[in-house]
Amino acid sequence: MRHFITLNDIRAAELDRILELSAIIKRESKQSERTPYLSGKMLAMIFEKQSLRTRISFETGMFQLGGNSMFLGSEIGFGKRESVKDISEVLSSMVDVIMFRAMSHSSVVELAKYSSCPVINGLTDQAHPCQALADVLTMQEVFGKLQNLKLAWIGDANNVAVSLLRISAKLGMKFSVAAPPKFQFASQTIEKIIDKKITDGFELELTEDPAQAVKDAHAVYTDVWVSMGQEAEEEERKKIFAPYQVDAVLMKKAQKDAIFLHCLPARRGLEVTDDVMDSPQSRIVHQAENRLHAQKGLLVWLLNEAQK
Ligand code: CP
Ligand code: NVA
Repeated sequence: MRHFITLNDIRAAELDRILELSAIIKRESKQSERTPYLSGKMLAMIFEKQSLRTRISFETGMFQLGGNSMFLGSEIGFGKRESVKDISEVLSSMVDVIMFRAMSHSSVVELAKYSSCPVINGLTDQAHPCQALADVLTMQEVFGKLQNLKLAWIGDANNVAVSLLRISAKLGMKFSVAAPPKFQFASQTIEKIIDKKITDGFELELTEDPAQAVKDAHAVYTDVWVSMGQEAEEEERKKIFAPYQVDAVLMKKAQKDAIFLHCLPARRGLEVTDDVMDSPQSRIVHQAENRLHAQKGLLVWLLNEAQK
């Protein structure tokens, strides 16, 4: 059974195919063509954390592909009311694909272990692969290519950053991370994060200096300083990350035509200023919309091609 738990579950060529499908299906959708690629298929979505984009993009995506979806929140009592094994075996006996946004990455891994249908990671503390798919689709649309582009990450080397690191390695992009030492990728963990097979063009730069990271960058990306589940660390994190705010001065140090990206939700005035969020360089809405298109490509690939 093929799952999509991290980007290491797929090869670079498969990633290219997902992006190709996403672009085809997006084009069809923009021309009001709705091909029922997933007619009669049911997606179950389990949420242990809040969401706007992930829920609406998967729900709308399944509807537009001719399938259906259901939202499962705290009422299923994940791991409390019954075991993960029992939930997984029962749920996967009735639906065709499961999306899980979990408190802990190990819950998604355990659910997938017992599932008889594909499982998609809809965000954990360790990864957000669906977000990275939408992000590279956006960069590809803006720049017409991905290989050799430089993506600068400013702030916490968190779940989203992990998925962007993996996708940069697979697609041959340069990834530069500016973070305070305590929140930077540790060199020992990088070998565990990325596959051995990396694509030509991939380079990784780790620095404490945001200006260094954004130098020559095609895209500048940030995320909240306090991710879901880290609320107790809010005051400490706000102090440590204060020098890592993305503002207009920092954006000017990137390439002239650089874009600004943020997975959202954003804390305006903390990790990013309003003028950057609302500037012509900002692609945040384009990027959020691409969650829909990228995940439609992913769902069609995972259900119609990957299991063969
Ligand atoms: N970017 C993202 O995953 O948004 P939500 O948390 O709103 O789903
Ligand atoms: N890093 C953020 C991303 C939200 C989409 C979090 O985990 O809360």
